[in-house]
Order: sequence, then C-alpha cells, then structure tokens
Amino acid sequence: MSKGLIVYVTRTGHARELAQSLGQQLDYPVAEIKDLVSRTGFLGWLRSGSQAARKLATPISDPEADLTQASTVILVQPVWASGVVPPMRTWLENHRSELSHKKIALLNSHLGSPLERLKIAFENEFFPLTAFEGIKTHASETEKQQKITSFIEALQNQTD
Ligand SMILES: Cc1cc2nc3c(=O)[nH]c(=O)nc-3n(C[C@H](O)[C@H](O)[C@H](O)COP(=O)(O)O)c2cc1C
Repeated sequence: MSKGLIVYVTRTGHARELAQSLGQQLDYPVAEIKDLVSRTGFLGWLRSGSQAARKLATPISDPEADLTQASTVILVQPVWASGVVPPMRTWLENHRSELSHKKIALLNSHLGSPLERLKIAFENEFFPLTAFEGIKTHASETEKQQKITSFIEALQNQTD
C-alpha cells in the first residue's frame, strides 16, 4: 500500500499551492475535487458562505483517486464561514466508508479566523484528525513552510 494521497478543493488557487507543495515534500499523489457550483463574483461568494454555514454538500466532479492504495489521506481546503467547504463535504460523504480506517489530516488555507471550532466540528461530523493546521493566505513563504513542516511532523509522529 502506498503511503498516502492528497485531495484538495480550491476557489482561487491558494489551497492548490499548499496541496502541491505537500505533495512534493511527501511524494504523495495530489488530486483535485472539482467544484461544479459557480462561485465567481459577489453572488458566488455569498452562495459559498451560505452553503458552508448550512453544512451543504454540493455537486462535484470526483477525481476518483484510488483510495485502496493509501493509508493516509490529507485533505486541503479553503475555510468558508469557519467550516468545511461544501465540495469537500460531498467528497467525504461519498467516500466515508473507504476512509473510515485511514489516517486523516486536514490542512486549511484561511484569512486568519480561529480554527479550533472547525477541528471539533470536523471530528464530530467525520473522522478523528491525525494532523490539523491553518495557513494564512497572505503569510510569507517562510511562514507557510514552517506550518507545512509542523503539519508533516504531526502526521509522521502519528504514522505507524
Ligand atoms: C465565502 C467565503 C467565506 C470565507 N470565510 C472565511 C472564514 O470564515 N475564515 C477565514 O479565515 N477565511 C475565510 N475565507 C477566506 C478563504 O478561506 C481564504 O481566502 C483562502 O485562502 C482561499 O483559498 P483558495 O484560494 O484555495 O480558494 C472565506 C472565503 C470565502 C470565499
């Protein structure tokens, strides 16, 4: 079984950059969950926040990554309304049984709002998290790398 897989959702590219950086550093494959809802402009922004606050699961194009080959799955997402983004929720719901015995970690791209409640809410709704971190959109490259390094350390400290 290969070591892991990274799946991500992005609206404006920041979560993609984090996912790709993690993928390079861990040598894990990276797959994008494509969001099929229009999220452009002010209405798209409003729709996104509202759907996240209501804990909706919205239409996606599933990357259909081979989960049987991964013992660790890292989720990378932007934070919307302090919560799980709806396309990530759809993917998690679609793969809940396949994910249930794996190590799950969550890396968030955000503007800086506190993330403690997101971690608790995620673990209540889905799975215990082996690693959890938030990286600010406008952090320096050095700060981003420091957070990625501590995220990887948390993951590896918990890896069999
Ligand atoms: C609808 C919406 C709601 C957001 N809510 C939050 C929030 O609650 N807390 C926060 O820190 N950032 C929030 N953000 C900012 C994004 O999480 C942040 O810009 C992120 O880096 C975007 O990642 P992306 O480029 O991968 O889409 C929100 C952004 C959007 C579009």
